[in-house]
Amino acid sequence: MKVLSVASEAYPLVKTGGLADVVGALPAALAPHGIATTTLLPGYPAVLTQVAGAAIHRWRDLLGNEARLLKGEIDGHPLIVLDAPALFAREGGLYAGPDGRDWPDNWRRFAALARAAAEIARGGVKGLTCDVLHAHDWQAALAPAYLRYAATPVKSVVTIHNIAFQGRFDAEIFPELGMPASAWGIDGVEYYGGVGFLKAGLAAADAITTVSPTYAREILRPEFGMGLDGLIAARAAQVHGIVNGIDPAIWSPGDDPALAARYTSRTLARRATNKRAVEAAFALTAGDGPIFTVVSRLAWQKGMDVLIACLDALVDMGGRLALLGSGDAELESALHDAAARHPGRIGVRIGYDEGLSHLLQGGADAIVIPSRFEPCGLTQLYGLAYGCVPIVARTGGLADTIVDANVAALGAQVATGFQFDGVTPDALLFALRRAIDVYADPAAWQAIQRRGMKADFSWAASGAAYAALYRGLSEA
Ligand code: ADP
Ligand code: GLC
Repeated sequence: MKVLSVASEAYPLVKTGGLADVVGALPAALAPHGIATTTLLPGYPAVLTQVAGAAIHRWRDLLGNEARLLKGEIDGHPLIVLDAPALFAREGGLYAGPDGRDWPDNWRRFAALARAAAEIARGGVKGLTCDVLHAHDWQAALAPAYLRYAATPVKSVVTIHNIAFQGRFDAEIFPELGMPASAWGIDGVEYYGGVGFLKAGLAAADAITTVSPTYAREILRPEFGMGLDGLIAARAAQVHGIVNGIDPAIWSPGDDPALAARYTSRTLARRATNKRAVEAAFALTAGDGPIFTVVSRLAWQKGMDVLIACLDALVDMGGRLALLGSGDAELESALHDAAARHPGRIGVRIGYDEGLSHLLQGGADAIVIPSRFEPCGLTQLYGLAYGCVPIVARTGGLADTIVDANVAALGAQVATGFQFDGVTPDALLFALRRAIDVYADPAAWQAIQRRGMKADFSWAASGAAYAALYRGLSEA
């Protein structure tokens, strides 16, 4: 069975967040189930410099621009790159320019990606076929909408990695999308008077998935559904929650080149070398007390304002913090202020650094994830694998993947981290306090670490779930 997986990013070629990790891991996760996955990505400069494939198709006019498809590979799996220089050959972010504002032609960039995907799926590109088109997030979500108006048996899946990003644009762009007039309507691409890319995909796809069972339920409610809850509820029979896995080829502490010392659950003491490296990298005073870490986009979603409100108290409780992140300027400056107030106790690195993110998981004692919503979350899974105990808000995939160290769970020896309800400074501080208390008992702490390291968050179960979903669709 052949699947075309369409997305705006995929590790290791181009990544801004967890979407890339998941899209990059899917081909290997699906292969054992007899699924051959081809990934379709935009030809950003970072992708083109790593992919020197032959052109296999050309468009003179793909939504107004010349474009071609290049054949390449991503970690040994087939890759197709949409090379459209007018749309993707620019310096800056994937979605926003150097000034931080969304590229004004984002609708055209990602409509072109979706259009190319649909052309491939309907057999318009020689040598490429697929049974299922799998579109990730709003940037790819128009593909099922295009497919809907093409006579083809190919089935489609849309995965919601984050419903907060919906791809909403003015109604004026509609005529330029090259869709039939009938697509303009409440069942089609129209959304609150404009065009909604994610909405269009959710309306058109044969199946909808999201990245955890709890988030699949949460998005039925207005506070999480962000305007799409009604549509999700109407399509509830087609909605599935499949939790993300992690890629052991990239995230294994026993075999991770980014660590100062490699270790397993049997050699936890070696983590101390990584802890010293974290202290050095973040100018923290050396010591035995716990180091908390954060590796995150700095955004409201991630509850970073609430974390910042807790930092003075965290230091008073004897905690240290090593934070790696980038995002909102206000949060960045508040974090710099906190670091300046607490030299040696709070270290902040603004930026994106894949290697350092691994070292933090391998050297810090606990990772703090106070998200207001979290479709799945990957950093808590990396934390589990690395013995960096997760302290998480009870929402979305965080609720599904961490077992809270309450008295009963500790007694039953099933706890893997700490959860708290409601993203408020009081709730987070209480969880941090509980973690510090358990940390004071090394045997209890190490038991939590070891249990997390043994928990199975590989792709085995989730790969099987996607494979079963695809087969169910194509046999329907
Ligand atoms: P989201 O996709 O919402 O940002 P996830 O937890 O699913 O959240 O995935 C985030 C991914 O991005 C993880 O692989 C994490 O390690 C990585 N990441 C986030 N911020 C940084 C950063 N500043 N430097 C390096 N990696 C980061
Ligand atoms: C999104 C979500 C995150 C999820 C990731 C991969 O970025 O915010 O929770 O883990 O997608 O599915």
